[in-house]
Amino acid sequence: MKEMLELLAERRAAARLGGGEKRIAAQHGRGKLTARERLELLLDHGSFEEFDMFVQHGCTDFGMAEVKIPGDGVVTGWGTINGRTVFVFSKDFTVFGGSLSEAHARKITKIQDMALKARAPIIGLFDAGGARIQEGVAALGGYGEVFKRNVIASGVIPQISLIMGPCAGGDVYSPAMTDFIFMVRDTSYMFVTGPDVVKTVTNEIVTAEELGGAKVHTTRSSIADGAYDNDVEALLQMRRLVDFLPASNTEPVPVWESFDDVDRLDRSLDTLVPDNPNKPYDMKELILKVVDEGDFFEIQEAFAKNIITGFGRIEGHTVGFVANQPMVLAGVLDADASRKGARFVRFCDAFNIPIVTFEDVPGFLPGTAQEYGGLIKHGAKLLFAYSEATVPLVTVITRKAFGGAYDVMASKHVGGDVNYAWPTAQIAVMGAKGAVEIIFRGMDAEGIAQKTKEYEDRFLSPFVAAERGYIDEVIMPHSTRRRIARALAMLREKKVEMPLKKHDNIPL
Ligand code: HXC
Repeated sequence: MKEMLELLAERRAAARLGGGEKRIAAQHGRGKLTARERLELLLDHGSFEEFDMFVQHGCTDFGMAEVKIPGDGVVTGWGTINGRTVFVFSKDFTVFGGSLSEAHARKITKIQDMALKARAPIIGLFDAGGARIQEGVAALGGYGEVFKRNVIASGVIPQISLIMGPCAGGDVYSPAMTDFIFMVRDTSYMFVTGPDVVKTVTNEIVTAEELGGAKVHTTRSSIADGAYDNDVEALLQMRRLVDFLPASNTEPVPVWESFDDVDRLDRSLDTLVPDNPNKPYDMKELILKVVDEGDFFEIQEAFAKNIITGFGRIEGHTVGFVANQPMVLAGVLDADASRKGARFVRFCDAFNIPIVTFEDVPGFLPGTAQEYGGLIKHGAKLLFAYSEATVPLVTVITRKAFGGAYDVMASKHVGGDVNYAWPTAQIAVMGAKGAVEIIFRGMDAEGIAQKTKEYEDRFLSPFVAAERGYIDEVIMPHSTRRRIARALAMLREKKVEMPLKKHDNIPL
């Protein structure tokens, strides 16, 4: 027995070494942690239970029969984050560059199946060179099995991808079908085809960082939802994110003890909106002053900054926030902002997370660039997402709610449950000057000025909408947190039945 135990310990130790000391040192030399070190940081101390540590590939081509490394380039299993179960797989770059073989894929699909059965989130840590080149189609088949499971689990359990090294070829499409992708700055990159292939096919000369680094994917392509400076920070932030998420679509949101008084009034909010309607102010200030303990986890912070999306808590319950940002493009809705908002709203709706919308939007962005870029379709995504949402929707109009954007941003008409306005709200078809110049075309400047004033007095207030019941109440800005908290508490058991359908047909 003693010998058997020693043998097991030896085999385990060998498996834990992955590709060996030299490759581990190289990994560290690049500022990266190993697959197992990453899991140690991601999961509660000592909670990791590893599966399939001794799995090996079955490839015999290109000399592979002689090189077998236990684990085959991916560490899989489950553990806890602040006591809540999560399933994990972590690509081991020290073993065949983390590349995916048939056996490696089977380890991942086993974890995907378990996560779905156990209804718990799954987190994938990526650091890999794509399909195991020596295996050919067997590796492609493996990817297909992983992809199919990503889709089956979509909307059932949260799926999170963290890119911590190369992520190329077949490796990109699994993260792309998960709910969130985060990256590590300078050490990670994602692309379908790398710089060499790009040069051959298109003659473009581009570095890996320029083609698919964290900056590109968080600011331009919007593939990634956030980026962090190093492995440690990224993993700790994933723990923070998981704390906001329910385990599955049939679970309520997690509730954490809050020490922040729900009745807390904030007088500074009474002067947040400037007297001049064209002057910007920072909508993030409102979010931070409303959420518990000022704790806000922003999603896609660096992309389409004219809309803010992210998670906070009120009375300890997770809430999704969507807010126009007057500091950027006056908070206008454009194609990027609409897509960003729509995806976030749909995530919240899939996972029972109530949505609070803060609205200050001068309308949709005009211009050929937007129209040619499909603004109608992208704007419709956000409209569609809000309209199909059945989670509690609480909206606060802080200032402008103009035109179609008024309808889109969780208005009463598309399903808003509780719609508040601050006294500074202006709810109208468009801004006063533009409106008057259309209705009174040809009028002299003095007449236009007078009519503009009349239009402002009549329409640019919350009261016309309130008279019709489109706004439930005009509230004091300082009481916003308390009003939202009460509305959300009232809506906690909200139930809406939508007509039976196979699935909807959101404009993609
Ligand atoms: C097998 C691989 C591998 C792969 C890397 N390795 N990628 N082995 N299959 N795909 C091995 C290397 O041979 C090397 O082994 C070790 O991993 C580290 O690789 P290096 O090249 O030394 O590291 P580095 O210089 O950091 O470059 C990393 C890399 C590069 C950029 C990822 O390795 C690379 O370009 N790999 C190939 C990427 C690729 O084209 N993949 C196939 C995509 S096609 P040793 O023993 O020397 O340590 C695909 C199709 C699927 O994925 C589509 C499904 C939809």
